[in-house]
Amino acid sequence: MIVEYPQHMTPIVQRKGMNVSADRDDAASIDRLIRSAASYIAGGVVSLNRKVEPDITFVRAAGSKLTDIDGTEYIDYHAAFSPHLLGHNDPGVNAAVVEAIDRQESLMGTGTTPWEVTLARLLCESVPSLERVQITNTGSEATAHAIRLARAYTGRDDIILMLGGYNGWHNDVARTVMPTIEQIGPRVSPGEYPVLPFSAGIPQDALRHLHVVNFNDSDSVEYVMGERPIACVLVEPVLQNIGVVLPRPSYLARLRELCDRHGALLVFDEVKTGFRTCLGGYQQVCNVTPDLSLFGKAVANGYPMGVIGGRERIMRLFHDPDPARKTLIAGTYNAHPFTSAAAIATIERLRDHGDEIYARLDRLTARLVAGLTEIFSDRGIASTTPRNGSAYCTYFCDHAPVDWHDIAANHDFELDRRYRRALIERGIYQFPQPCKQGSVSAAHSDQDIDRTLEIAARVVGEL
Ligand SMILES: Cc1ncc(COP(=O)(O)O)c(C=O)c1O
Repeated sequence: MIVEYPQHMTPIVQRKGMNVSADRDDAASIDRLIRSAASYIAGGVVSLNRKVEPDITFVRAAGSKLTDIDGTEYIDYHAAFSPHLLGHNDPGVNAAVVEAIDRQESLMGTGTTPWEVTLARLLCESVPSLERVQITNTGSEATAHAIRLARAYTGRDDIILMLGGYNGWHNDVARTVMPTIEQIGPRVSPGEYPVLPFSAGIPQDALRHLHVVNFNDSDSVEYVMGERPIACVLVEPVLQNIGVVLPRPSYLARLRELCDRHGALLVFDEVKTGFRTCLGGYQQVCNVTPDLSLFGKAVANGYPMGVIGGRERIMRLFHDPDPARKTLIAGTYNAHPFTSAAAIATIERLRDHGDEIYARLDRLTARLVAGLTEIFSDRGIASTTPRNGSAYCTYFCDHAPVDWHDIAANHDFELDRRYRRALIERGIYQFPQPCKQGSVSAAHSDQDIDRTLEIAARVVGEL
């Protein structure tokens, strides 16, 4: 369902009726500002995973389009690492935020607010495994709380993580997401890989509690569980930080079984998969019920939000009367009224128009993937483009990868880099780093897909 922009929400430049020379002045002053960035921002860009080449300054976005400082428009498939499920600046979501401001909702910082109850109820009604939830500002906070909760609940310190998974920036999860084959060495199964920290400053002591295994390899999970008492298995049900790596049919069910047998919690990190394929998350698709689930990104369509939820008997630890068991969750900005308004509007739209929205996303993405597959096949380039609903990724190898080791060993990274760059040069924005997932939004149109395929065909012919 596409919502038209009401007059008061058209981009400022358009509203003011700015003429071309005023636009140019604006662009020149923004350009000067950007060139001074490194004098004020450490590294010149906020969140340094955004530091990429080509370094483009985007200044506004609406629906499926990004506009850069020179006024060049791009069809966007990056979606800011995927939150914009309904498209950028969705008018309905923005209107809900403006209405919350108009109602003088504010950050109260004391007691229960109506918007947090509304949001929590919508979340619990959307995802059946959520008996109780708590709200955070980011996915990283949600994963940090889940690990702490799992440790408190089980009385164990060790956790299992996936090679090629990303679960945020904190010490318990910050391992290198895309290590080279030289760094990881030959395939290990059953067994675990060395933990390669993604950051300096992580105590060695924290790393010894982390166990990294291949995705789609439940034998390795079983192996580690035989060696160590495990608090939880933290897994993205589809690995979507290294493209789109789908679980084998019985893999997630086997993880459920192993967790039950060994007394560990199964934690689904649905920060990327959640709300993208259906209201109930990937757990609804695979029919496996985790103990805890984490959401973020699409849940508020681009406004900052994280969610942790799951079984009441586990979530209860957040308010356990026994101080020895009580597990801390706090945050000045948690369930801020404006981000809550965005999340409520997003979930209500998905609840009320989900059939139409998810069918549209599915149809558009299927068209895109079929078109890309044909283009590469016509040019004799080995490729595969797996997708999970509206999330997709092209790998230049002859099979759909099953884990990061497979990708690191078989994907043509250089071709991927050139392909993405060539697309960007012609107005199709894919994050310019190999193996990053593309996202179609409900604001994309058939014309967007046609244009993308037309450009992709041209680009691939020149690679
Ligand atoms: C699967 C997954 N979990 C957790 C996170 C962390 O979320 P945030 O960046 O909101 O802290 C991300 C971010 O990309 C993610 O993809």
